[in-house]
Amino acid sequence: MNVPNHVAIIMDGNGRWAEKRGLPRSAGHLEGSKTLEKLAIHAIDMGVHILSVYAFSTDNFKRDASEVNYLMDLVVKYFNTKFEKINKKGVKVVVSGRKTNLREDVIEAIKNIEEKTKNNTAGILNICLNYGGQEEIIDGAIRLAKDIQNGLDVSNFKREDFYHYMYHELPPIDLLIRTGGELRVSNFMLYEMSYSEFYFTNTYFPDFDKSEFNKALFMYENRDRRFGGIHDKKGN
Ligand code: FPP
Repeated sequence: MNVPNHVAIIMDGNGRWAEKRGLPRSAGHLEGSKTLEKLAIHAIDMGVHILSVYAFSTDNFKRDASEVNYLMDLVVKYFNTKFEKINKKGVKVVVSGRKTNLREDVIEAIKNIEEKTKNNTAGILNICLNYGGQEEIIDGAIRLAKDIQNGLDVSNFKREDFYHYMYHELPPIDLLIRTGGELRVSNFMLYEMSYSEFYFTNTYFPDFDKSEFNKALFMYENRDRRFGGIHDKKGN
């Protein structure tokens, strides 16, 4: 099977999942967290090396303070306790995004989970938190500018070289999944998704279980990735 190396998920539909059941939106986020925990392990079992997920965008701060706080509480709780299974599985957890505006306990939980899992080699779970794709490019460009000021020669600088300036130097995304029925990328990993295959599903994220994930993998297997060239997948 041709398994994507790097899969990214825009985990959308938590709120609607809850509303459909007459539950508060927070119930959807809780269920979504459980789904994420299971998927992170399943993805590794299927041979995916890197799973990136959009947990909280820089723009999600526009939501009610109570929802923002609930999501941050969940992150702290999952990083501090619930991610033990993920750690045991040998997955390295990294967090992408700006640290500005994050609560102290969230920053502390990020440090702890990154430190605890830093030597794991079975795979990488990249949690995007207070994250924006344009922001990641801007932050990278600023770091590159500093290196240029310090004498870096960019006469031969290539697009591959710019990955070094992304938050964790992760490779390009092969497969981008968005749950919840919307057809947009919402400022997710813009630089890394330039040649991604897209998979959109109406399924709300809490219901996006292993078999739903596998459907996306099967779809991916049958895509003809040309990267701007004209050959088909048999190399003709
Ligand atoms: C989008 O659904 C989802 C979010 C803004 C949050 C996603 C977060 C999680 C799944 C939990 C992450 C937890 C950890 C431990 C990292 P929405 O609320 O916009 O849904 P809607 O479009 O139906 O309203």
